[in-house]
Amino acid sequence: MSGVFISGTDTGVGKTLVAACLVRAWAAAYWKPVQTGLAEEEGDSRVVARLAGLAAGESGAGRLFAPVHELAAPLAPEPAAAAEGRVIRLADFVLPKPPGSRPLVVEGAGGLLVPLCEGAMIIDLIARLGLPVVLVARSTLGTLNHTLLSLEALRARRLPVAGVVLNGPANPGNRATIERLGQVRILAELPPLNPVDAAGVAGLATAFGEFRP
Ligand SMILES: Nc1ncnc2c1ncn2[C@@H]1O[C@H](COP(=O)(O)OP(=O)(O)O)[C@@H](O)[C@H]1O
Ligand SMILES: [Mg+2]
Repeated sequence: MSGVFISGTDTGVGKTLVAACLVRAWAAAYWKPVQTGLAEEEGDSRVVARLAGLAAGESGAGRLFAPVHELAAPLAPEPAAAAEGRVIRLADFVLPKPPGSRPLVVEGAGGLLVPLCEGAMIIDLIARLGLPVVLVARSTLGTLNHTLLSLEALRARRLPVAGVVLNGPANPGNRATIERLGQVRILAELPPLNPVDAAGVAGLATAFGEFRP
């Protein structure tokens, strides 16, 4: 099965926006395996459905897979589950199969070393699912350290990296440094969108050019 796992250098870095762009560009399916923070927000599946134009019915049929764990607290998965007396296990997560030959876009929670459950972090879920990683990073100051650390963690575990997406105002210096020191492909640079809506996402989807899972 083809697909990607979207992780990021941080929470709030643009993973969901990138997921929506790729779902739109590839007419892909989307899966958020573990969703936290539902006490305060609607959840990424609904955001992607809206931004990628996955209407209920024909175009959306079978393309949104429900999270395995949905948790209220705006915390990492392990503590959010503990707060509800629930237990997450790595074995709970099995790749769903999209209809036809659609690719699957999977979105993590937070960054790579976020605690998922006893004995496992998000990076262990990535290893289990076996999809190449799209790493979303800020374009601005602070991104070099976060991005290079994240790439080092992925490489230390020999996990495949599809590339990095830089989100925010274009920063050619940071781009060049990440390419050189990270030995990685920059898949796209996404400018600030205003408003963040389905039309804007349709426009950004073209920023990925020929990139395919
Ligand atoms: N390129 C962008 N332009 C405008 N707003 C953005 C952009 N990227 C992200 N955002 C906004 O920043 C917030 C966090 O982005 P999101 O994709 O939800 O991050 P993550 O999934 O990594 O937590 C959202 O409100 C989103 O709309
Ligand atoms: Mg998200």
